[in-house]
Order: sequence, then C-alpha cells, then structure tokens
Amino acid sequence: MFTLFEILSLKCLNGGSSIKVLGLAGSPNINGNTAKLVNAILEGAAENGADKVVYNLASLDIKGCDACRRCQESGCCLIDDDMQEIYEEIQTADAVVLGSPVYMWQMTAQTKLFVDRLTAFLRPNFSSRLDHKKLILVFSQGSPDRDAFKPYFEYTADLFSYIGFDVLDIVIAAGTDKLEVSFRPYMLEKARDLGKSISASNLPGPECTRLESSLTQSL
Ligand SMILES: Cc1cc2nc3c(=O)[nH]c(=O)nc-3n(C[C@H](O)[C@H](O)[C@H](O)COP(=O)(O)O)c2cc1C
Repeated sequence: MFTLFEILSLKCLNGGSSIKVLGLAGSPNINGNTAKLVNAILEGAAENGADKVVYNLASLDIKGCDACRRCQESGCCLIDDDMQEIYEEIQTADAVVLGSPVYMWQMTAQTKLFVDRLTAFLRPNFSSRLDHKKLILVFSQGSPDRDAFKPYFEYTADLFSYIGFDVLDIVIAAGTDKLEVSFRPYMLEKARDLGKSISASNLPGPECTRLESSLTQSL
C-alpha cells in the first residue's frame, strides 16, 4: 500500500439521497480481472445504497477524437456514437470507477479512445467543465511487481485531476497472469470495501470541506 495524495476536498452531496456510481471497464475481456474489480467496487457502493451503472468500454462504439476542437467551445462532441451516452452518464454520476488492464505498459487502446474524448469537458482555456467528480482508477497487470507501472498510474491520475476529477484512489491488481482476481477473494473483498467508502452514508455532511485520505492501494 502506498499513498499518492491527500484528498483536500470532497464535494458535499445532497444530504441523504443516494449517489450514482458509474463503472467503466476498458478490457476486451468482458468478465476479466478489470471488470471483476470494477464490479466489486460498484457492488460495495450499492450495498451502502448507491445506484450503480456499468459499461464495458470495449463493447461500445467509441470512435477516436477527430480533432475538430468544437467540443471545447460548446461542451458537446459532434461524433454520433456511444460516447454520447457515456457523457450523459458521467455528468449525472457522483463518482466514476474507471478500470483498464495494462497493455504494453499503458491503458488499453479502447480505454484511451474514451480518454481522448474527455476533451469535451475542457473549455478553450483548458479549465474543466466538471465539478470535481469523484474517480477511482483500477488497473490490473500481469506483472507481479506492483510498482512496475506506478509512474504511469500517477501520471494518469494527474491527467484525470486536470480533466476535473477528484482522484480518490488508484487500485492496482498485480500478478494476474499467474493468479486471476477471481481466485483471490480477498482482493474482491477489499474492492467491495472500497466501494462502500464512496457511498452516500460514508461521505461527509455539508459542513465538511476536507477529507484526508490515503486510499491508494495495491490489492
Ligand atoms: C496485448 C496485451 C498486452 C499486455 N501488456 C502487459 C504489460 O505491458 N504489462 C503487464 O504487466 N501485463 C500486460 N498484459 C497482461 C494484462 O495486463 C493482464 O493479464 C490483465 O490482468 C488483464 O486484465 P483483464 O482480465 O481485465 O483483461 C498484457 C496483456 C495483453 C493481452
């Protein structure tokens, strides 16, 4: 377990009402390690009353950004594909859980297509249109060395902060080529516990403006 950040502020959510947690898994293995971890986090959140919705990015029609740049002016991407639904889901979600396996030291191409399209959340001056939405990043990797891609994960978290997310945590499942997460129930249990921590009942009330967290963890 290692700490990357302190979370300096946590958006106060409508007191008592349930929050929506959006899961996005970017692996072509629809029920693989990444999907299992993302789902476990969502299940934990749902156990504590959150509404959950999950998509597999690899199953969606998400085209590459065509660099028209008009989204930055208007906030709307003109490409007519499944990303339009995902924009809606992100805008109405309180927290997002985004997972990807490591492919060639990075996120999958399917996940990167999605990430490029998040440019629509940046204004022409690159300030964010997002109001500090919560984000948990999930990575699974074949390498048993959990620090192998740490700089890349930190870099990715920085990118999402720049886009306007509050990155609550980076979950890393290492060594999956030897032992898949489905054979490591403790991993899924930890992921579920993490999900519980993002549900409404565990979020601070309106008077709370600061939460210190050291959630970043390897499973
Ligand atoms: C094309 C490809 C490239 C991969 N590259 C890496 C890599 O660079 N480093 C690594 O540790 N694992 C790598 N892996 C292994 C996956 O990250 C690992 O099996 C992961 O848990 C798969 O997640 P999934 O079950 O959600 O698809 C690669 C797998 C594939 C298929």
